[in-house]
Amino acid sequence: MKANGLWTILSILCLRSLAIELPRLPFVLLPLEPLFDNQAASVNGSSADFDGQGNSFAGQFLPEGPFAYDGIIYQLPMIWGTGNDNVIANNQTLALSNSTFVHEFHILYSGDNSGDATVTANRFILTFLDGSTQTLTLEASNWWGWPDLNPGIIQTPYSLQANGTSRNFNHTSIFQWSTAVNSEQPLTSITFPEVNPGNRLHLFSMAFSPSNDSVANGPALVIRREKFTSRWEMVSDSRAQAVQVTIANLLPTSSLSVNTSINSKHTIEISGPGMTTVVPGVFYRLVPGDQARVDVLTTGSTTGTNATIVIKNSAGKIVGQSTGWPATALVTHYTADTDSLNAHETPTWWRKAKYGIFIHWGVYSYPAWAPPNEYAEWYNYYLHNPPNSSSPTWIHHLETYGKNVLYDDFIPNFTASKFNASAWLDLFDRAGARYFVQVTKHHDGFALFDTGNTTNRSSVILGPKRDLLKELFDTAAAEKPHIHRGTYYSLPEWFNPDYAKYGFGEWPGGLARNPFNTTPTFEPYTGHLNISDYIQDLQLPHMLTLATQYNTEIMWCDIGGPNNTLEFAAEFYNHALAGGYQVTMNNRCGAVPDFTTPEYETFNAIQTNSWESSEGMDPFSYGLNTATNASEYKNGTTIIQTLVDIVSKNGNFLLDIGPTAEGEIIAPMANNLLEAGSWLEYAGECVYDTEYWFQTSQDPNPPSGVAPARFTTTPMSFCIVTFDAPTENNLVIHKRLPLLPGDEIKLLTSGVGDIALPWSTDSSGNLIINVSSIDVKEVQYAWAFKATYDLDD
Ligand SMILES: *[C@@H]1O[C@H](CO)[C@@H](O)[C@H](O)[C@H]1NC(C)=O
Ligand SMILES: *[C@@H]1O[C@H](CO)[C@@H](O)[C@H](O)[C@H]1NC(C)=O
Ligand SMILES: *[C@@H]1O[C@H](CO)[C@@H](O)[C@H](O)[C@H]1NC(C)=O
Ligand SMILES: *[C@@H]1O[C@H](CO)[C@@H](O)[C@H](O)[C@H]1NC(C)=O
Ligand SMILES: *[C@@H]1O[C@H](CO)[C@@H](O)[C@H](O)[C@H]1NC(C)=O
Ligand SMILES: *[C@@H]1O[C@H](CO)[C@@H](O)[C@H](O)[C@H]1NC(C)=O
Ligand SMILES: *[C@@H]1O[C@H](CO)[C@@H](O)[C@H](O)[C@H]1NC(C)=O
Ligand SMILES: *[C@@H]1O[C@H](CO)[C@@H](O)[C@H](O)[C@H]1NC(C)=O
Ligand SMILES: *[C@@H]1O[C@H](CO)[C@@H](O)[C@H](O)[C@H]1NC(C)=O
Ligand SMILES: *[C@@H]1O[C@H](CO)[C@@H](O)[C@H](O)[C@H]1NC(C)=O
Ligand SMILES: *[C@@H]1O[C@H](CO)[C@@H](O)[C@H](O)[C@H]1NC(C)=O
Ligand SMILES: *[C@@H]1O[C@H](CO)[C@@H](O)[C@H](O)[C@H]1NC(C)=O
Repeated sequence: MKANGLWTILSILCLRSLAIELPRLPFVLLPLEPLFDNQAASVNGSSADFDGQGNSFAGQFLPEGPFAYDGIIYQLPMIWGTGNDNVIANNQTLALSNSTFVHEFHILYSGDNSGDATVTANRFILTFLDGSTQTLTLEASNWWGWPDLNPGIIQTPYSLQANGTSRNFNHTSIFQWSTAVNSEQPLTSITFPEVNPGNRLHLFSMAFSPSNDSVANGPALVIRREKFTSRWEMVSDSRAQAVQVTIANLLPTSSLSVNTSINSKHTIEISGPGMTTVVPGVFYRLVPGDQARVDVLTTGSTTGTNATIVIKNSAGKIVGQSTGWPATALVTHYTADTDSLNAHETPTWWRKAKYGIFIHWGVYSYPAWAPPNEYAEWYNYYLHNPPNSSSPTWIHHLETYGKNVLYDDFIPNFTASKFNASAWLDLFDRAGARYFVQVTKHHDGFALFDTGNTTNRSSVILGPKRDLLKELFDTAAAEKPHIHRGTYYSLPEWFNPDYAKYGFGEWPGGLARNPFNTTPTFEPYTGHLNISDYIQDLQLPHMLTLATQYNTEIMWCDIGGPNNTLEFAAEFYNHALAGGYQVTMNNRCGAVPDFTTPEYETFNAIQTNSWESSEGMDPFSYGLNTATNASEYKNGTTIIQTLVDIVSKNGNFLLDIGPTAEGEIIAPMANNLLEAGSWLEYAGECVYDTEYWFQTSQDPNPPSGVAPARFTTTPMSFCIVTFDAPTENNLVIHKRLPLLPGDEIKLLTSGVGDIALPWSTDSSGNLIINVSSIDVKEVQYAWAFKATYDLDD
């Protein structure tokens, strides 16, 4: 042991003396203070008005002075609550005192739309020395949002109302954002987004990372960041921790050439006290203005020690190293507190999978009806809200079933009589899905799994009298083990009598009142058993059952609200660790999310945190809606283009289908899934296992009327996917891409295989691919052009 330690010390000393010390990312603060025009924070009842409605941050919880996050040291007020501390974006222009090439831009911000958890696109316009511009789209989160699904990097336990005199116990947040800047030209000024009344963007601190514009013969490497993650892989029978290292080439993109790029196998190793690299990270190409994210697999890291990052070329020679990076040990046991659980992240398999199928199936699949712009799975809610002819669902119900039929009378008609788990799984597989998420209990409280002594309101006791979830999960595990298994679970229930104590908003709890004023006055809650507390005796046991009895890999909660999720998450994660697999939990479980879940919407720009968009195949329903014409469903084109767009921005796509009450996936839905699957079969290599490209998700300047091409990357390739068929024998991309002479570009097709195509760049670095109209006709839905790097050595 001692000899080993001595060897480590000696080798570190040797490395020190020989290797080039790689710097960290540089940054320069921008002078925002002169523009400050708003006071966000109150202290001791001072009269701040952050949102224009008299509400303010509780200043005593905000960090003061220099504030370090992700390698940038921002500036915050030395004392909050004593004057203006932020600027409201309102089309102001901030000129740089010296024009300079810029690699990356960083801000601390908060949106002020109280109570709205959704994000708003805000556009910064960057102006360069030659007059050209770049738009940076910030999807801004609001300072608080119900139900607190998007926590920022700075959080306070409450905010102050009425100019600091009373408290609102919703958590508030300040958020951080970093993004790539074009470095074709020096940057001269930044114009802030135009003001959006009622939804304003507040800027607290801003910085940029300059490029290195030396005339270099060789890349200008820096370490952008390292992150000791909760992700791991088994390497020779032990659990190795993934350490994600991000390396940047700080030269401006305009200097792209063979000489300024890395274009051969480079490895990254990390060492430190007790720490060993068991599988080095590998990257092959790094052009000017770009960044590469690489996982290094390590063992033995100890929290509180420092690590050294070493980069070697293909000959094994050290090209640079960097020391002093803080290590964090791999979590091997989670405890029920936010500090422990916040360390958890989406696993590697989830990040690579990209595409999942969501299944809304339950009692609502029997009436299977909603007017346009309502969810069919919300049938029971709209039947009661409002309980009169201004609700289309109430009218539909009266006309179709009469006033003596109640929602629970549908339970026997949710038969699952044609449900065939093998057929479903086979379809998901051919559709190209890498995971699925089954609704196991929606807001109507009807479960599709064995709920034991908590309630008899389940498919095991009522309706089909089958454990539908077990059938699906067992079949998936046996027949399609490569498809990961997830569960949706609604935390609240609309009309559960035991939820009345906790009810809020559209989830009041308490028995539903008969909407037709017939008898009974209050509807039954079929299957209800006496329990004393909804959270402790029903919600938590259900969630634990899904985790420990069904071994779900994705806990996809809905709605949030009262919960015991800290206790749940610790057991969920520890159970998975003991079983040797990795799991994840979304942001609707009320606490400690791994990923966010935009619903029927996507983002305009790359989000570096994990996210997943869900949408029904129906234009506005997750559950089957027989009032929708099947021609309105998302077809192969829409599915593929939505998926590629999301993946180019670092998201996953969870596409929902609604089976019938008998358990059939109707032909139009199945066919559209198969259309998309047929494309993924030959072009999936531009989707699965890819990553977003640091510089941008898409062509920033497509011709008018043409959808911008999307980009994805792998360590040895770069994909360009267009949504409009290239015309005039050319595809032009208005952006310098990480390509070098000798790279081979192929159009991915099914019929005739991959077609190699000639390509060139013009004097501005734009890419031109020659592709004939005949080749273009080989493809449907989207055109995937894959460039394979021509590496040195
Ligand atoms: C707020 O009050 C506390 C306690 O009276 C005091 O210590 C603190 O300095 C005050 N803060 C400001 C900003 O006035
Ligand atoms: C923003 O400022 C520019 C000039 O800097 C001006 O042309 C434009 O009209 C302004 N936009 C709004 C909405 O005021
Ligand atoms: C701007 O350039 C001048 C002259 O090169 C230099 O003295 C000054 O420090 C620079 N200012 C900034 C903010 O970089
Ligand atoms: C907060 O104070 C401002 C002026 O200081 C006043 O205009 C506003 O009405 C106050 N708001 C509330 C909610 O008290
Ligand atoms: C959150 O804010 C809303 C609107 O002001 C309020 O109704 C609710 O009670 C707050 N929630 C908490 C936990 O304070
Ligand atoms: C720029 O990059 C070159 C090549 O790596 C390096 O020698 C030089 O020190 C860098 N300059 C700065 C200011 O970092
Ligand atoms: C690359 O470097 C070589 C050798 O130093 C030099 O001859 C060549 O001109 C350089 N090429 C470019 C594109 O800078
Ligand atoms: C880790 O490195 C940093 C930066 O080099 C240094 O300040 C710190 O003291 C080191 N910590 C330990 C535990 O060695
Ligand atoms: C359930 O199905 C049976 C048999 O098809 C039918 O007679 C009955 O009307 C259905 N119940 C409801 C509530 O529609
Ligand atoms: C259900 O059974 C479990 C295990 O036997 C027991 O701990 C729990 O108290 C029971 N719950 C209820 C509501 O009866
Ligand atoms: C989840 O429960 C915790 C602990 O009771 C609570 O603080 C949190 O606000 C809940 N989450 C939501 C979204 O209500
Ligand atoms: C697919 O759906 C899109 C959007 O609704 C539509 O524009 C397109 O024509 C459809 N394609 C086919 C082949 O039906």
